[in-house]
Amino acid sequence: MPETDDSSHPPLGATAIRPAWVELPEGLREFIAGRLGADVVAAEVQGGGFTPGVAARLRLAGGERVFVKAIPDDHVLAAKYRTEALAAARLPRAAPAPRLRWHDTAAGWFVLAFDDIHGRHPRLSPGSPDIPLVTAALAIMGETLTPCPLDGLPQASAGRARMLRGWRELAGATPPDLGEWERHHLPALADLEELWPAHADGDTLVHGDIRPDNLLITHHGTAYVVDWAQPCQGAAWQDVTDLIPHMIMAGHTPGAAEKTLVGIPTWDLVPAHVITSYAASFAGYWTRSSRLPAPPAVPHLRAYQRRAAAAAIAWTKYRTGW
Ligand SMILES: Nc1ncnc2c1ncn2[C@@H]1O[C@H](COP(=O)(O)OP(=O)(O)OP(=O)(O)O)[C@@H](O)[C@H]1O
Ligand SMILES: [Mg+2]
Repeated sequence: MPETDDSSHPPLGATAIRPAWVELPEGLREFIAGRLGADVVAAEVQGGGFTPGVAARLRLAGGERVFVKAIPDDHVLAAKYRTEALAAARLPRAAPAPRLRWHDTAAGWFVLAFDDIHGRHPRLSPGSPDIPLVTAALAIMGETLTPCPLDGLPQASAGRARMLRGWRELAGATPPDLGEWERHHLPALADLEELWPAHADGDTLVHGDIRPDNLLITHHGTAYVVDWAQPCQGAAWQDVTDLIPHMIMAGHTPGAAEKTLVGIPTWDLVPAHVITSYAASFAGYWTRSSRLPAPPAVPHLRAYQRRAAAAAIAWTKYRTGW
C-alpha cells in the first residue's frame, strides 16, 4: 500500500476541513490577537487530521509565529480540546512536543496557543530517513513521560482499550460485506483482541494517537509529537507500537515495520502475544469504525480507516499465521 500511489484519498496534511481564519467570529480573532499581543497578519490553515476545529499557523505583526487550535465550546469535540490543554500544560520541557503557551475561552470558543513548529509530516515508507527520527522521539517520550506527570487520567485498560477493539462487536452483528478471512476467524479474533489490556497499564503518560499527521519533523531533523487530545496513563510500549500500522500503510511489510523498532527497550521487552493481540485490536477497531456513518464535516475519516484496517489485518495475519 504505497503512500503516494492511491489517488482515491487525499495526501497527509489535507484530510481535515477546517475554517479559514477570516471565517472566525471577529470577537474571537480580536481576543486571540489581544492575548498574543500583536495583530495576526497571516494564517495558514493546517489540513492534517480529521477534526473540523481551527488549526492554524499564525504570523504576527513583528514576524513571530504561533500555532492556534480552537473549537466552539459546545462542540462535541470540545472536551478533547480541554483534555489536550490539561495534558499539554504538564508536559516536561524534555518531551518532544511544542510548548503550550496558554488556553482560554472567548466568544463561545475554547482556544489553545502553542509554540509554532515549522515542520512537515514524516514519510514512513521503507528506507525513509524520517523513521529513525520518529522512533527516537517516541523512545524519548516514553522516558521523559515516566512517571506520568498528570494526575487523574484513566489507565489504558479503562481508557483506550475500551475503544480500541471491534471483533467482539462484529461477531455480535456481522456486516454482510465483512471479508472472508475476517468472517472465518471472527471468534478467534474476538478472543485475541481481549488479551492486551492486561498489559496496557503503567506509569507513563501515553499520547494515544500516534499517526503521521500528529508528527512533525523540522528541517533540523527534530521530530515533534502534537495533538495530545487522547492521553491516558499506561505502559510505554503503546505509543511506539502505534507506528507499525502507519508504516504498513506507507508500504512496509509487517516484518520490516516491526524491525524498525528493534532496540527500543519498551518494544524489545513487550511479550510477543501482547503485540499480536494489539495488532488484532487495531484491525477490529478500524474494521468496525470504518463502517460507521461519517461524522458531520469529516469526509475522509472512514476511507482512511478502511486503509488502516487493511494494514492492521495484514499485520495480524503476519503475527498469527492465520
Ligand atoms: N505546534 C504546532 N506547530 C505547527 N503546526 C502544528 C502544531 N500542532 C499541530 N500542527 C499541525 O496542525 C495539524 C492539526 O493539529 P492537531 O492534530 O493538533 O489538530 P486536531 O484538530 O486535533 O486534529 P485531529 O483531527 O488529528 O484530532 C497537525 O496535523 C499539524 O500538521
Ligand atoms: Mg491531529
